[in-house]
Amino acid sequence: MSEKLPKDFLWGFATGKSSIRVKYEAFCQERPKFRPTASYQIEGSANEGGRGPSIWDTFTRVEGKIRDGSTGDVATDSYRLWKEDIALLKSYGVKSYRISLSWSRIIPLGGRHDPVNPEGIQFYRDFIKELLVNDIVPFLTLYHWDLPQALHDRYLGWLNKEEIIKDYVRYAQVCFESFGDLVKHWLTHNEPWCVAVLGYGTGVFAPGRCSDRARSAEGDSSREPWIVAHHLILAHAYTVKLYREQFAASQGGEIGITLNTNWYLPYDDKAENIAAAKRAVQVYLGWYAEPIYKGDYPSVLKDMIGDRLPHFTDEEKAVIRDSSDFFGLNTYTTHLTLEGGDNEWNGKVKTTHTKPDGTQLGTQSAAPWLQTYGPGLHHLLNYIWKTYKKPIYITENGFAVQNEDKMSIETAIQDKDRLEYYRDYTQALLDASREGVDIKGYFGWSLLDNFEWADGYTIRFGVTYVDYKTQKRYPKESSKFLVQWFKEHVEA
Ligand code: BGC
Repeated sequence: MSEKLPKDFLWGFATGKSSIRVKYEAFCQERPKFRPTASYQIEGSANEGGRGPSIWDTFTRVEGKIRDGSTGDVATDSYRLWKEDIALLKSYGVKSYRISLSWSRIIPLGGRHDPVNPEGIQFYRDFIKELLVNDIVPFLTLYHWDLPQALHDRYLGWLNKEEIIKDYVRYAQVCFESFGDLVKHWLTHNEPWCVAVLGYGTGVFAPGRCSDRARSAEGDSSREPWIVAHHLILAHAYTVKLYREQFAASQGGEIGITLNTNWYLPYDDKAENIAAAKRAVQVYLGWYAEPIYKGDYPSVLKDMIGDRLPHFTDEEKAVIRDSSDFFGLNTYTTHLTLEGGDNEWNGKVKTTHTKPDGTQLGTQSAAPWLQTYGPGLHHLLNYIWKTYKKPIYITENGFAVQNEDKMSIETAIQDKDRLEYYRDYTQALLDASREGVDIKGYFGWSLLDNFEWADGYTIRFGVTYVDYKTQKRYPKESSKFLVQWFKEHVEA
């Protein structure tokens, strides 16, 4: 095995790009409590570009849903500052940039019979062309959580099998036709687990549905996440079928999905905790990876959920099996795992970062769920390679320094904990690669500090500090580390 990563290894940063809007006035008149917003997580610029509202525009307007009461109205203002963002990427010397498209910017009302917005198409074409002029490879995600609000209003979005799959596939088709001559790397969904569980199970993300009537007037946490996940998998698979049948040959691109998972280590050497850690990965990741790479849900999940888990027909199984050209992986941390608990979405295990001797697994981040543990990535990469035998792109990986939102800029850019995180995780990447795991790319999350969903602007994941008052960008030490690391570790 080579000591370095191969010459064509893609590395760079990711963001949750999205959009802007025009014709929001009509929507606002119908719903006076809404005011024009823009989307998530970086773009901002309300009232421009013809975009329709998404479920995140709506959700951020509901009191109490976002920790600091903020919205994506301005975010990092990247709709206006996109050329600066690309210049920043260029200055870092990245090979690739992963962004997501806003569905409601391309088709403001979202549906297959609704009009396409030419301004939206133009904006993304200009953006992609500018990346290419700067030798930066675009990596495009079709869906990073911002469902057009109109589709939720019309038929409850992801809950409606007959409508959503057709509408999503048509949206994808518009994207392939509009950008496919320029784009060779496509992702369908970003983290379907989060869409299903956080949007329809716990209700902490848009559209905020759950069984708890104190939090949501509608929803059924015991059923809806399984239904939504089922439809997300099918929408993904029919989109890939379309791409492979009608676009792949002429456009020469690849297409897949990005799944998120943690690595699960047994809490101690008790047999039940060893079994629990195994089951956690089989359920959390296998819920999506098994159908997509092998054609059906894992039996451990079927046994656990029973008749609440929808079935794939034989025809659907043929479409979903092997419906991703590669393994797109978003991963941030490792959990110590114990048997027990009633959380079906992670396989009924309990997790902690506190070891039996009372010490912590790694360095605590600003997010309660995230501690540094590089060896976890090493294990996970080996597991995925062995289980699914597909080349892997790490499409997100990153760290949020504690209290960074309260620091001066000068202090925040000395982001030692993030730098140490990246040091550990790049080492794990290299170790796995040297052992023969086929890893084709790595994207740090994130290029910029940005709108961190339900945490608003209280948590910062960027390798570049954003001063939200001036929108000025300041490279942090971690960005310098990554730039240097990839310079040294990718074959020239
Ligand atoms: C998401 C990003 C998010 C990041 C950090 C991922 O789950 O794809 O949108 O900002 O994690 O929480």
